[in-house]
Amino acid sequence: MENILVIYYSNKGSNKYLAGKISKSLSCEIEEIKPRLNIFLLFLMNIHLGIKPLKNRIEDFNMVILCGPIWMGKLIPPLRSFIKKYYNKINKLIFVTCCGSTDAKKDEKFGHGLVFKEVENLLNDKCIICQAFPVGLVLPDNKKEDTDAFMKTHLNDENFKGEIQERFDNFIKKINVMR
Ligand SMILES: Cc1cc2nc3c(=O)[nH]c(=O)nc-3n(C[C@H](O)[C@H](O)[C@H](O)COP(=O)(O)O)c2cc1C
Repeated sequence: MENILVIYYSNKGSNKYLAGKISKSLSCEIEEIKPRLNIFLLFLMNIHLGIKPLKNRIEDFNMVILCGPIWMGKLIPPLRSFIKKYYNKINKLIFVTCCGSTDAKKDEKFGHGLVFKEVENLLNDKCIICQAFPVGLVLPDNKKEDTDAFMKTHLNDENFKGEIQERFDNFIKKINVMR
């Protein structure tokens, strides 16, 4: 059985960047979730037609790392479709998000904490870790809670340093201990 597969969906690129970094650091396969209808506005209205079949066999991996954004405090349709479609084939899953909500606001209406609970409920004991990388980690202190600033900020090699890099390194260490 193969070890780890990174699966991601990204609209503006931050989660693609993060997923790529995870796959490089763990030297593992990566695959993008491709919705049948990739229209952002329709997703926001919860209109979606599911996702295209993946090339990788999910059941061949001990662990899937699922990475994607959070919109409107919800688990986004492409990620939800992935979990529902492949539930029986998933052995263990780690959920990762580059999102807007800070750690301090994770349990508020649009916080990542609520989405983590949703993922854990959908996956029962198959979900072993949920990890957030809020975009604010790459912003100066006075901009961390600034919605306008984090909506305009995307992860890249220039800004992925300091606090976010430290959180990332700890995350990779944790996974390497488990594999
Ligand atoms: C329409 C919209 C709604 C969003 N709602 C939330 C939210 O409820 N909670 C949150 O933490 N981030 C929210 N965000 C921020 C995104 O999760 C964040 O910008 C993410 O990094 C985008 O990932 P991507 O670049 O991979 O598409 C929202 C972004 C958009 C565009």
